[in-house]
Amino acid sequence: MDGKTRILFVGDENHHRESYERLLTGSGYEVITAEDGQAALDILAKRQFDITLLDFNMPIEDQKVFETLFKTHPHMPVVVLTGNETTDDNALESIKKSAYDFITKPFKTDQFLLTVKRATDKSNAGKKERQAQEEIIQTLFDFNTEKKRLKTIINCMANGVMVTNSNLEIILYNPALIRLMGISEEIKNPVPVSRIINDKSLISTLEKIQSGECQVDESISQEVNTGTRVLRAISAPALAPDRNVFWKVAGAVTVFEDISAFKQLDLMKSDFLNMVAHELRSPLVSIRQLNSVLSEGLAGALQEKQKDFVNRGIKKIDALLELINDLLDVAKIEAGKYVRQKVPTDIGKIIEEAVSIMAPRADEQGITLSFSCQDLKPVEADPKNMEEIFNNLISNAINYSPGGGSVTVSAKGMGDYVEIKVADTGVGISSEELPKIFDKFYRVKHPKTRQVTGTGLGLAIVKGVVEAHHGNIDVESIVDKGTTFRIRIPVMTESKSSIRP
Ligand SMILES: Nc1ncnc2c1ncn2[C@@H]1O[C@H](COP(=O)(O)OP(=O)(O)OP(=O)(O)O)[C@@H](O)[C@H]1O
Ligand SMILES: [Mg+2]
Repeated sequence: MDGKTRILFVGDENHHRESYERLLTGSGYEVITAEDGQAALDILAKRQFDITLLDFNMPIEDQKVFETLFKTHPHMPVVVLTGNETTDDNALESIKKSAYDFITKPFKTDQFLLTVKRATDKSNAGKKERQAQEEIIQTLFDFNTEKKRLKTIINCMANGVMVTNSNLEIILYNPALIRLMGISEEIKNPVPVSRIINDKSLISTLEKIQSGECQVDESISQEVNTGTRVLRAISAPALAPDRNVFWKVAGAVTVFEDISAFKQLDLMKSDFLNMVAHELRSPLVSIRQLNSVLSEGLAGALQEKQKDFVNRGIKKIDALLELINDLLDVAKIEAGKYVRQKVPTDIGKIIEEAVSIMAPRADEQGITLSFSCQDLKPVEADPKNMEEIFNNLISNAINYSPGGGSVTVSAKGMGDYVEIKVADTGVGISSEELPKIFDKFYRVKHPKTRQVTGTGLGLAIVKGVVEAHHGNIDVESIVDKGTTFRIRIPVMTESKSSIRP
């Protein structure tokens, strides 16, 4: 299509058809002519036209044919060219009523072309309007299709889905949610979340999301215990368009996954590990003692080479015992039996000792190890557990700084809690690895720290201990710049805070 306006000229006079065709073609229109109404209908059945011009000098014989034309092409503007002598033709009068415009002869060429131009504009405007309407209908259709598809997906999901509004009421849910929550009756929307899920920490997450404390692309993962099932709940803000700020938080979307089977398996695996570690430790301790006796020459003097072999054996046994102890520690933490006694503890003193134990190793690696403390108050803790925390964090800081640098430990009283930071200038940890380093057995593969041996249990133990003391731990790191671990532990209430000797 070349974009020209297409005109169908219908006229009973041969010479009129020819002269109008010439005039309109010369003005840039594409013209097809027809000698009567039936011929016009035949042409219109095959091709599309923008406008139709009707020119009749004789009385119109078949009014019905033209009525059909108007019916079948309701959007096509029709202009009627009439002579004075035919105005009394009833058929023509009725056609004029359905036409877009009419022009009475004699008329000037300019006047005629202007009328044709107006009909063309009308035709174009009509086309655009119909196109816009079609687009709206299509969009609505697509939207509804998408909505239905989404509904089907949500309803077929094995995971529970719950959408809450700003009043913390459930406004949408799927059958899996009902099944996972063990609800027998149907939920009538909207219903307060607290009536369906009795989990304070989930509700506080939803409140946090609603108050805008959470990033729009952030999701919060937590475990929810329903009594019969353990679920992993992942909540994220639900956004809605807003005139003033473009998007605003209108509620939250939470997806629940049933992890009861994993939990059960994890428990069985922990029990098994615990049992194996326990059974291995006693004979290993005996073997170590026997080797020490040999090494010290208490069972007879050893030659240099024999002594060297025995000592190497002792080192391997020590590494195995360390691993077994770590495994047992993790098992105890998971069983909630790790923290044995909580007493008023001077955390500054414990860190100072850990720093002095680690100092020779730092020296060996060309690392400056420093410690500072300020405004410290006693915490209620198991001192052995606290030692474990700082031994792990400081030894990590040294181990993962293969090129030397500095390790700075600082402890500061901050009102209700003590904040301890262990900062190094080592290899750092990438943002993808950061969330995994507290997982059991997780170790980051880094070419510069390949020679560092370990089991990946240290940070799992540290986190477990911190949380058992109602504290929290977080980490910030920049690859090749360094890592800072920050721990916060609540200080003791005034009534309890006298440190035991
Ligand atoms: N300060 C740090 N700088 C860089 N990477 C670190 C640092 N601390 C920990 N990591 C990374 O996190 C991983 C887990 O640390 P974690 O202490 O749990 O285990 P580990 O040191 O490998 O073994 P171990 O159980 O003997 O402590 C480490 O393997 C290391 O890749
Ligand atoms: Mg470690």
